[in-house]
Amino acid sequence: MTSRATTAPQNRHAVASADIVVFDHVHKAYAARGSAGAVAALHDISLSVRTGSVMGVIGRSGAGKSTLIRLVNGLETPTGGRVLFDGVDVGTLAGGALRQTQRQIGMIFQHFNLLSSRTVFENVALPLEIAGTAKATLAKRVNALLELVGLADKRDRYPSELSGGQKQRVGIARALATEPKLLLSDEATSALDPETTRSILDLLKTVNRELGLTILLITHEMSVVRAIADEVVVLDGGRVAEHGNAYDVFTQPQHAVTRSFFANDAGRQLPDDLRAKLQASAPPGGKAIVRIVFRTASADDAVLSKLARDLGVDVNIISATVDTLAGKPFGWFIASLDGGKQVDDTVAYLARYGVNAEVLGYVA
Ligand SMILES: Nc1ncnc2c1ncn2[C@@H]1O[C@H](COP(=O)(O)OP(=O)(O)OP(=O)(O)O)[C@@H](O)[C@H]1O
Ligand SMILES: [Mg+2]
Repeated sequence: MTSRATTAPQNRHAVASADIVVFDHVHKAYAARGSAGAVAALHDISLSVRTGSVMGVIGRSGAGKSTLIRLVNGLETPTGGRVLFDGVDVGTLAGGALRQTQRQIGMIFQHFNLLSSRTVFENVALPLEIAGTAKATLAKRVNALLELVGLADKRDRYPSELSGGQKQRVGIARALATEPKLLLSDEATSALDPETTRSILDLLKTVNRELGLTILLITHEMSVVRAIADEVVVLDGGRVAEHGNAYDVFTQPQHAVTRSFFANDAGRQLPDDLRAKLQASAPPGGKAIVRIVFRTASADDAVLSKLARDLGVDVNIISATVDTLAGKPFGWFIASLDGGKQVDDTVAYLARYGVNAEVLGYVA
């Protein structure tokens, strides 16, 4: 207890500038309940979130994502290791010092967590009321935030009168009210349709760029990570399976879990009729549907011609897309190949050219 005052300033000095959050060999086990044993949610997590960046954390249900971000704002305490926010060991904070830190960390949620008895204005004002902000300052700030999130005309409405996307905009305005340095997002777009998701992610990106706000965002959807993250962490079973910049992870995923997320993402972008026919295992004489990613501006098909010549594999291109990620171009094909052993050979062949290929499924 007494060491708190002496350790915090030293930590602050060591890491404050470059990394706003540092997970240092973090373990988290939840205590046993009744006859159930303790649940180990996180194992030996070491990660840094660069100040000003957007870090996307992706993982399946139960991977430990929510636990990870709840450690940052002190809603959970690590059972091993440390979590530093702005150089301060959050696990050692309590009372006023903890609240002071929490005020610098905003959070948004899947189900928005708005108060139904309060108007839009009053929801956004709440953190400022709690912080004891003077009335005039408060009104000015809330109005500016509502302007920022595009809800100035809804200030006197109640949450029940808003769409999901509008509710999340209120959630974002409320999270920004105390001018935090960090925004935590726990599946903030999971309850929204794709178009609304897009607009919320655009808003978050704007806030990141214009306010310099660091964002730590967790999701189970690769498309969310692709739209917004500079860096990607893949959590699996409470461990970091993969971590890198978004471009590298997207174009050359290393871990099987990462690949399965991409296969899902790409699967959703298949033409409807093809997706409906897709099956997990190869029927005799069937074809494999693959996603092939190129780290170049043109979805360069020279390597595919060469592949056709060298392996005698027939590659039929179903769709070709050129996109950018974090400002760098990449191209991706959806193609069909003859099934069987040729598929493995093709994936291995392309890997030798630094081209990532993923089998999405098979069709008869
Ligand atoms: N309060 C708790 N008490 C006991 N176990 C918990 C508690 N919270 C989470 N867990 C367990 O810890 C593990 C990680 O849970 P967590 O909520 O962090 O996963 P998640 O990746 O956010 O999952 P989801 O995508 O479903 O939200 C799970 O096995 C979960 O059952
Ligand atoms: Mg969760």
